Amino acid sequence: MITKSADKTPKIEVEVTHIQQVSDIIKRFTFTPVDGAPLPVFGGGAHIVVEMLDGEILRRNPYSLVSKPGSTENYQISVRRDDAGRGGSLYMHNTLNVGDRLLVSHPVNLFHIDRRARKHLLIAGGIGITPFLAMMAELEDESANFELHLSARTDGAFLDELRGLYGSKGSFYRDDHNEVIPLNEILTGQPLGTHVYVCGPTGMLEWVLRTAEEAGWPSQNVHYERFLAPPTGLPYEVNLATSAITVKVGGHQSMLEAIEAAGVDAPYLCRGGACGQCETRVVSYDGELLHNDHFLTEEEHASGTKIMPCVSRFQGRELVLER
Ligand code: FES
Repeated sequence: MITKSADKTPKIEVEVTHIQQVSDIIKRFTFTPVDGAPLPVFGGGAHIVVEMLDGEILRRNPYSLVSKPGSTENYQISVRRDDAGRGGSLYMHNTLNVGDRLLVSHPVNLFHIDRRARKHLLIAGGIGITPFLAMMAELEDESANFELHLSARTDGAFLDELRGLYGSKGSFYRDDHNEVIPLNEILTGQPLGTHVYVCGPTGMLEWVLRTAEEAGWPSQNVHYERFLAPPTGLPYEVNLATSAITVKVGGHQSMLEAIEAAGVDAPYLCRGGACGQCETRVVSYDGELLHNDHFLTEEEHASGTKIMPCVSRFQGRELVLER
């Protein structure tokens, strides 16, 4: 069944049919469509947005699909519990049970496999492995040339599974043993036409991008996924000029969530500051725009004319947006 929620985006009603404890802090959830109809197909690197009613806050969190691309019977996502986060992962870990029903979005792919590549070099840190699980299944099916380098904790999720599935194509580095990915060696020893993909914590991502640039990799051969969880902060108010309403943004709520909760339709895709879909014009402000996105340029941040409400916040007396 495809239903519509307040944000006018088509949604799919699913039931939680399986929950697997992958490690002490990671669970894998299987969602099966309630009406039994085939789910929309997706490619490796795609994500869905999962709606969850967390107390009084309706959260819409993006998660990479980890199930095999091409499978239309169910979707699987993996969620890392973040005890210091805003609560979405805790909701998924502590509240969601088999048999519960949820709305999820259609898959969106902002991190797809580049078919021009002759070889695919995948570099992941921790839970950043998730988009690569579906990607590797797809690459393996196509007999494509790829290799994975994953840096993770001792009991890193998926490690045994990955070793079993991909054998010598995977190299694994234990964070807790100070094992470091030999990045220079890896990046300089690749055949012409190789593309590198990276997903992981910000520090690691910056390290790989910087090293690739220094090693002369063309930017079109470097792909990354950098979704941010919306940060917490002090509560504040936003005036929506077009809608003629004032919205209160809670400390554990994103500006986008507050706008949606007020019944105002607002576009989004990634909800993590990466895609640009939620870009909103700033009409005026008296205070400080706390930009957290990776989409706008430094100049655009400094101009004070645009903001990405999925991850950015405000501190000050008054903020007026064109929404
Ligand atoms: S929804 Fe993608 S940047 Fe805000």
